[in-house]
Amino acid sequence: MVELTLPKNSKVGTGKTHPKPEGATNLKTFNVYRWSPDDNQNPTIDTYYVDLDTCGPMILDGLIKIKNEIDPTLTFRRSCREGICGSCAMNIGGTNTLACTTGMDEIDGDINIYPLPHQPVVKDLVPDLTNFYAQYASIKPWLQAETPSPSKERLQSKEDREKLDGLYECILCACCSTSCPSYWWNSDRFLGPAILLQAYRWIIDSRDEHTGERLDNLEDPFRLYRCHTIMNCTNTCPKGLNPAKAIAEIKKMMVERR
Ligand code: SF4
Ligand code: SF4
Ligand code: FES
Repeated sequence: MVELTLPKNSKVGTGKTHPKPEGATNLKTFNVYRWSPDDNQNPTIDTYYVDLDTCGPMILDGLIKIKNEIDPTLTFRRSCREGICGSCAMNIGGTNTLACTTGMDEIDGDINIYPLPHQPVVKDLVPDLTNFYAQYASIKPWLQAETPSPSKERLQSKEDREKLDGLYECILCACCSTSCPSYWWNSDRFLGPAILLQAYRWIIDSRDEHTGERLDNLEDPFRLYRCHTIMNCTNTCPKGLNPAKAIAEIKKMMVERR
């Protein structure tokens, strides 16, 4: 029988259970993944009890309350607290989503929180997205045009502008890419749904003059074609976007230009 050896630090143990707040009767249980690079220990799941009568309604409110009142060592990213910056992306109740736009009442029972899957962890709920951002830079996410513009602005028709709807709203939270099995196993070479959606955003921008070059950059068995239309990306996007459709559109353009 094959014996599998899990990598160091991959076995998750039971951690600390913090005391219930005194006198509180309306409690929600948070089970949170904890790991620190500093102590050479395996990850654990720590348990916290949040008093819902003195807390805001969102998961991020609960995490901030835990950090402020129970355990200042708990580490997570957040900034805008309104679904715009993408920094509070994490796995909540088995789904990659944003902590600031997910209500505690959307989760039945205990709230189980892990970092975004299949990324190296910096600490606790903070994933290392270095590779993700490098892949983003690789698609040159800016307007490339050499033809001098007749006016100071590069204008678009209303119809051309509408082609960017469903794309420009992407906040690069990485929920989709880290829910994609193809990205889990090939993130060194497959760009993943978020970056491909961003690539398409520039490919179909009527003002951009590097469409051919952008498509050439994706014409590769891994960078684009590792997408097997599993659709996890579209199902999980907290902004309601459809990266799988954007990827299908790129594949269609590849065929049409042959
Ligand atoms: S497509 Fe959606 S899930 Fe993916 S990075 Fe953009 S906003 Fe996040
Ligand atoms: S549709 Fe493609 S990118 Fe989206 S989850 Fe499936 S394989 Fe990944
Ligand atoms: S804190 Fe900015 S998206 Fe959640």
